[in-house]
Parts: sequence; structure tokens; C-alpha cells
Amino acid sequence: MRRISTVLVPALACAALVTVAAGAQNPGGSPEGKKMKNPVASNAESIKAGQALFQKNCRFCHGADAKGDGPMAPEGTHPSNLTDDKWDRGSTDGEIFLVIRDGAGPKFDMKGYKSKMPETDIWNVVNYVRSLQAK
Ligand code: HEC
Repeated sequence: MRRISTVLVPALACAALVTVAAGAQNPGGSPEGKKMKNPVASNAESIKAGQALFQKNCRFCHGADAKGDGPMAPEGTHPSNLTDDKWDRGSTDGEIFLVIRDGAGPKFDMKGYKSKMPETDIWNVVNYVRSLQAK
């Protein structure tokens, strides 16, 4: 009995870690995200809705102006500047969507919004973040 548990417990712990890591999007982008099409047209209405959601959900980490300087980011984390043209986790609408939906790994400093926002709202936020680039 003893032998089984010493083998099993570490094995289970490993399996749990792998499952968690698989959900979050890691640097380098995502083939799944590259194939996704943004179903929400990027018009003034969508950008405005996305901006409101951003101020409510993302601002304390990414900052009111999305430059990554939010005052309440957890210590030791570095929320990305979302206004530059550098996208560590992929630059297509779909890839940005997946980061917001599933969170940014591997340590999950940013949690996914899957259970908090309907998909349409996530696309609105994508459109808002994108609109910052254009300027
Ligand atoms: C708890 C703090 C926190 C919150 C809240 C948060 N983020 Fe993040 N976000 C981060 C961190 C930290 C990273 C960088 C992770 C890394 O690179 O390891 C990140 C990365 C990202 C990226 C990837 C940028 C790139 O260059 O590829 C996007 C896009 C993003 N966040 C958008 C959002 C949006 C939109 C929201 C709100 C819906 C949000 N984040 C909420 C902390 C946060």
C-alpha cells in the first residue's frame, strides 16, 4: 500500500499541473487563435462597450490607459503594455481573444475571463484594445 501512494501522489500532482498549463496561452501565440474570426464588427459602439469593460475589469492591472502600469497589479507581475505593437502571445484578434478568455500563462498572473464575460463582450474588449493601436 505504501509503495503505491508514494508513486501515485506525485503522478497525480503532475497531471494537475499539466492540465492547468494547457488552458493558458503562452508566449508565441496560438494556432487556434490565428484561425479564429472576430464575429463582432469593430465599430464605435463595440469599441465603447469594450472600453467600459476594460475600465471595469482590466484597468487595475493594465492601467487606465492600457500601458501596463495599473496601480494594483499583483506584486512581481508585469502586465503587458497593450498600446505598443509587441504581442508576446500573438497579435491576431483571435489570439488576443484567447488570452482574455483563458488567461495568460504559465503562472496565471492574469486569470481568464471565461466565466465572467460572455464571448461577445470579450470581442468588444478585443476591438477596444485594437483601437488603441491605430493611434
Ligand atoms: C491581475 C492582473 C491582470 C488583470 C486583471 C488583467 N491582466 Fe492582462 N495581463 C496581465 C499580465 C501579468 C500579463 C502578462 C503575462 C506574461 O507575459 O507573463 C497580461 C497579458 C495580457 C495580454 C497579452 C499581451 C501580449 O503582449 O501578448 C493581453 C492581450 C491582456 N493581458 C489583456 C487583458 C484584458 C483585456 C484584461 C481585462 C479583461 C486583462 N488583461 C486583465 C495581468 C492582468
